[in-house]
Amino acid sequence: MAADLIAPSILSADFAKLGEEVDNVLAAGADIVHFDVMDNHYVPNLTIGPLVCEALRKHGVTAPIDVHLMVKPVDRIIPDFAAAGATYITFHPEASEHVDRTLQLIRDEGCKAGLVFNPATPLSYLDYVLEKVDIILLMSVNPGFGGQSFIASTLDKLRRVRKMIDNSGFDIRLEVDGGVKTDNIAEIKAAGADTFVSGSGIFGKGKDSDPHRYDSIIAQMREAMGRVER
Ligand code: DX5
Ligand code: ZN
Repeated sequence: MAADLIAPSILSADFAKLGEEVDNVLAAGADIVHFDVMDNHYVPNLTIGPLVCEALRKHGVTAPIDVHLMVKPVDRIIPDFAAAGATYITFHPEASEHVDRTLQLIRDEGCKAGLVFNPATPLSYLDYVLEKVDIILLMSVNPGFGGQSFIASTLDKLRRVRKMIDNSGFDIRLEVDGGVKTDNIAEIKAAGADTFVSGSGIFGKGKDSDPHRYDSIIAQMREAMGRVER
């Protein structure tokens, strides 16, 4: 079983000092930088693009950057994110006319490819492309905003995808995104996730960059996950 990875979503970080925020959360033990890209079209919000990804790399961030595309269409922007230093690029299948082609494009650009499933999106999109997927991201909120509550039906969906991955024998990460906090991360891990996005659960609403606070939240998450046998 793959190691548990914690992926703070910078959506809830203080954008006025983003480099410092990312440095602090990585120093506190986070594994991956989760980078939410919203276009005010596929989702009703507008965030950050390849320039900001590139700026983080130039700032010295070497951790994997997990680019979660909530944009439509997706293909035009993929090479730009690859050039900007993305490690993972995930997209919503409803936002691509040609899902197989988009997955291949991400891999051809040298990145790891993933599909993202909204709470109501069926898993059947995986039927013919599982071997082209490096990561499956289950949304546990409807995409567009941080700070929403975890949708409980995601736990069953996680169990189903976990079985699918294990039966396939492929090396695929299972990521969860939305409403993940110290008090529910253990049951989310028990349902089969191995990669945990948390925005407001780590950065909080205070926009207060306090590295010690991040230390203690990430330690609590690891402690809670450590109690789960898988
Ligand atoms: C929502 C984004 C999430 C968001 C999660 O559309 O994809 O990554 O930042 O935020 P929290 O952890 O606050 O639910
Ligand atoms: Zn996200």
